[in-house]
Amino acid sequence: MTHRIGWIGCGTHASQMLLPQLVQLDVELAAVCDTDPGRLALIARRYGIRDTYTDATELIARKGLDAVGMAIGPQAHSTLGLAAVERGLPVFLEKPPAANSADAERLAETAARKNVPVVVGFMKRYATGNRIAANILSSDDFGPVLGLMGWYMTAPTYFTGARDYDGFFLHHCVHYMDLVPFLGGGAIEEISVRTAENGPGRLLIHGSFTLSGGAIASIAMGTVQSRGNPVEFLQITGDHQRVEVDNVADVIWYRDPPFKADNADAVLAAETDALTWRPNLTAAANEDHKGYRALLSDALAAFEQAPSDAPTIADGLAALQALERLRVKLEL
Ligand SMILES: NC(=O)c1ccc[n+]([C@@H]2O[C@H](COP(=O)([O-])OP(=O)(O)OC[C@H]3O[C@@H](n4cnc5c(N)ncnc54)[C@H](O)[C@@H]3O)[C@@H](O)[C@H]2O)c1
Repeated sequence: MTHRIGWIGCGTHASQMLLPQLVQLDVELAAVCDTDPGRLALIARRYGIRDTYTDATELIARKGLDAVGMAIGPQAHSTLGLAAVERGLPVFLEKPPAANSADAERLAETAARKNVPVVVGFMKRYATGNRIAANILSSDDFGPVLGLMGWYMTAPTYFTGARDYDGFFLHHCVHYMDLVPFLGGGAIEEISVRTAENGPGRLLIHGSFTLSGGAIASIAMGTVQSRGNPVEFLQITGDHQRVEVDNVADVIWYRDPPFKADNADAVLAAETDALTWRPNLTAAANEDHKGYRALLSDALAAFEQAPSDAPTIADGLAALQALERLRVKLEL
C-alpha cells in the first residue's frame, strides 16, 4: 500500500536524513509543514509537494492522509503527536517524543486507548552493527546477557559556555536510555553515577545500571569528543563470548577459541573463533547503516497494524523516565 504522509518539520534532520530515506519506501509525500517559510519552500520544491502549511494543526486536520511524520523538537512532538492521534492518524515522532515523561505518558495513554500506532525514532536499534548484535544476542548461541559497556559521545557544539544540559540529555542521551535496555535485555532498575566537568558545557558522565533481566551496564556519555571521529562503542558480554560494535557498523563476535601458540596446526575455526563484519563503504549501493530507512520501513508496517518491531511511544516513555531518573542522580 502507498502511504500518504503529511510531514511536519523541514529542518536539518528531516532534510538530511529522514526524508531522503522515507521517499525510497512506498510513500507519497502528500503535504508538508514548517513554521519557517524558507525551509517549507525548500522541501516542497525538492519533493514536488504542492500542499504546504505553516500551521501544523491545519496539516493534521487535512483530509486524505494515512499518517503523519515529524522532526521538530521535544515539546512539539508530544503536542502535535497528540493532535494527530486524537484524529486517529498514525504518527512517526523523532526522538525525543516529548520534553518530559508526563507528556509522553499522556500521549502513550491516548495512543493505547485509541489503538493508534505511534512510532518513536530510536534508529540506533536499526543501525546495521547494532542490529547484527541484537540478532546474535537473541539467538540460542549467545545465552543470557551478563553485562553491557557503552561509550556514546558528542561534542560541546550546542552547549558551549552554558551549563544547560537539557539538549544533551533530551537529544543525545535519550538514545542510550532506549538502546541499553533493548540490547541489555531488561528495563533500567538501579542507577548510580559519576561526573567529570571540564568547564561549562564540557561534561563527561558515567552511569552504572542494573537491568531487570539480570545484566549490569556501564555507560559513559559526554560532550567532550569531536564529532569528526567515531563516537560510539558497545560491548555486550555473555558467558565466554561477547559482541562488540564500533561506530554502529563494525561488529566482532568473540567466542570461545582454544589457545593457539602451542598448536602448530592452528587455524581459525568456524565454530569457536571470532567472527567479524564491517560494511563495504565503496559499494555503489545506497545503504543506510545508521538505520533510518529500516526504522521508517518498520514504521510503515506499524501504521498498517502489520507485524513490526518499530519502537513505540511506550518505549519512548520508558526512555524518558530512565533519563529523568538519571538526571536526578546526576543533579543536572
Ligand atoms: N535520530 C537522530 O539521529 C536525530 C538527529 C538529529 C536530530 N534529531 C531530532 O530531530 C528533531 C529536529 O532536529 P533538527 O536538528 O532537524 O532541528 P531543526 O531546528 O533543524 O529543525 C526543526 C524544524 O522544525 C520547524 N518547526 C519548529 N516548530 C514548528 C512547528 N510548531 N510546526 C512546524 N514546524 C516547526 C523549524 O522551523 C525547523 O525547520 C529533534 O527532536 C532532534 O532531537 C534526531
